[in-house]
Amino acid sequence: MNFSGHTILITGGGSGIGLALAERYLAAGNEVIIAGRTKDKLEEARHQHPGLHIKTCDVAKEEDRIELFTWITTHFPEVNILINNAGIQERFQLLKDTDDWKRAKNELKINVDGPVHLTMLFAPFFKEKEEAAIINVSSGLALSPGAWVPVYSATKAALHSFTQTLRLQLENTNIEVIEIFPPAVNTDLGGPGMHTFGANLQEFADSVFAEIEEGETEIGYGDSVHRLKADRESLKAGSKQAWEKFKQNNPGF
Ligand SMILES: NC(=O)c1ccc[n+]([C@@H]2O[C@H](COP(=O)([O-])OP(=O)(O)OC[C@H]3O[C@@H](n4cnc5c(N)ncnc54)[C@H](OP(=O)(O)O)[C@@H]3O)[C@@H](O)[C@H]2O)c1
Repeated sequence: MNFSGHTILITGGGSGIGLALAERYLAAGNEVIIAGRTKDKLEEARHQHPGLHIKTCDVAKEEDRIELFTWITTHFPEVNILINNAGIQERFQLLKDTDDWKRAKNELKINVDGPVHLTMLFAPFFKEKEEAAIINVSSGLALSPGAWVPVYSATKAALHSFTQTLRLQLENTNIEVIEIFPPAVNTDLGGPGMHTFGANLQEFADSVFAEIEEGETEIGYGDSVHRLKADRESLKAGSKQAWEKFKQNNPGF
């Protein structure tokens, strides 16, 4: 696939990983539309990068997803790449947060309903294009779950599973299926300051962008590269180790 001349929709493109990818696709000569809930955030991104197009949308809401699909295919009928990047991360104590289903359900809707439904809307539309791609942003935690974010880890494992079956069903079509597995990256995921220990955002995005260009379909970075190659026992041990470390660092959890 050429790296320019595409029209790309990035959900959650107003900040963090989505914006870093938007900047790179824009600089490479593509039309880029970023979608997110917060208009101010999108407008600020467009102010920084006047070439960006913006669209408010809450991917948790079925009607917003359908409206986004209709709007994009009307105003940007040449759209041929969907990046399912929007996501949130919530910490849960499963024995204490028992009446917090609303928060868990919202996380499931954003992280699972959003990308699955958008894929189901866009894939048939993309089938008519000469070339197209669906890029799902899951997580290293899809492979080795983080016990402090149990619902989040489950949503990313679900997205990973869905992406694998999508790739199988779309083999021999014009639609490439790519999955990005970020490790911890320094963004505002989970709230400002929650991921300052993570990898540098710009270095991460440069590496991911280069691997997409090279035609990789399962893209890790740092720790998640090892997770992609690890056996089941190492992944289980990694989860346990990370959980012990988290409890040590967060004695109040
Ligand atoms: N940073 C990490 O350590 C890390 C690690 C593994 C995977 N990831 C994944 O990478 C993706 C991007 O996260 P990030 O780290 O860049 O965090 P971020 O800076 O918080 O970006 C998330 C973006 O998603 C948007 N968003 C959230 N809920 C939405 C909704 N319901 N509808 C539309 N947009 C929504 C947010 O904007 P609004 O709130 O304005 O809508 C925001 O722009 C996520 O899927 C995340 O799970 C991140």
